[in-house]
Amino acid sequence: MKKFKNHFLTILFLLLIISCNSKEEKYSVENALKNRYEKLLNYTPDSLSFPRSYSIKKNEIKKVPSKDWTSGFYAGNLWQIYEITGNKEYKELAKKWTAFIEKEKYNDRTHDMGFKVFCSFGQGLKHEENQHYKDVIIKSSQTLISRYNDTVGSIRSWDFNKKRWDFPVIIDNMMNLEMLFEATKISKDSTFHKIAVKHANTTLKNHFRPDNSCFHVVDYNPTNGNIRMKVTHQGYNDASVWARGQGWAIYGYTMAYRYTKDEKYLAQAEATANFYLNHKNLPKDGVPYWDFEDPAIPNAPRDVSAATLISSAMIELYQFTKNETYLNYSKKVITSLKSKEYILEPTIKAPFILNHSTGNWPKKDEIDEPIVYGDYYFLETLLRMKSL
Ligand code: GLY
Repeated sequence: MKKFKNHFLTILFLLLIISCNSKEEKYSVENALKNRYEKLLNYTPDSLSFPRSYSIKKNEIKKVPSKDWTSGFYAGNLWQIYEITGNKEYKELAKKWTAFIEKEKYNDRTHDMGFKVFCSFGQGLKHEENQHYKDVIIKSSQTLISRYNDTVGSIRSWDFNKKRWDFPVIIDNMMNLEMLFEATKISKDSTFHKIAVKHANTTLKNHFRPDNSCFHVVDYNPTNGNIRMKVTHQGYNDASVWARGQGWAIYGYTMAYRYTKDEKYLAQAEATANFYLNHKNLPKDGVPYWDFEDPAIPNAPRDVSAATLISSAMIELYQFTKNETYLNYSKKVITSLKSKEYILEPTIKAPFILNHSTGNWPKKDEIDEPIVYGDYYFLETLLRMKSL
């Protein structure tokens, strides 16, 4: 009888451990995310320092001023966490961080207006009817189109490195068009929409290679519109396939199709998406190496920001094409990223969610780290998936 009792107790004990473990497994993914969101809630607003990335090794948050191209993502993350959780505290914080960006509406030294203003004020507009937010978007769009050159048919990207470039246009610039398309919807002034279309057409003509991958930078002669060179700034080399650049292209042309219904934009988005999905160097978990042609592969750093950007774009691409390959890729990325390998552990206080993005490999800057825009497109992917 005693032996039977001992046996019974051992089995009961084992069952208890198994059930605790399986509960903890399930619990840990949801809680890991909740825990990360709370890190943003506990981070004190500062109008002059926007959290951009985090070095785990140095335990140091890289903070940037509002003029940095990434400044709007942090507010965007708070708006999106508010949408996911329904917790109004996130909304209050999002409003504060959004307001800190406003002075950028006058900054005509950059093309990154869409990233800064649309990822903050634009997100805010999804959650409340706010005339002031609309006014900021219109003013910012007016500032952005002051960089448009009709001879080139593009908005100039950068002003730096004038010795090397005359009129550089980068594939990333496609993302800023979303704000221009919206500006026309808000103001009924078609100028913004027309310039966005011109820019998208010029980029379509000149940025893509025969295999449908894209160059990072195309530099033009601003006087006659001729192409001076097709090169890279953040990729491995001029001819290589910089992962995030492919993402800006896939996202940019899918979004441009949303506003124009121009079939050639959808065709380019699909062609670049297919190139990306069929590349022999795309890892099984769907999170790309920072550049598909880094000779260090399989030991090259990954870029989670490219994975989240592309998984978000592919949900929209699936909605337009009904091609499940795109949706399956997004599902795979979400599954991969919702793991301990990618979600930052709870002991890290910095206000970020995911690890393993790569910012600027040639400069050895932000390699394999949490970066704010990796989180932004992750949250967008979760929301887009939920809305299907
Ligand atoms: N837009 C700059 C980058 O992708 O790093």
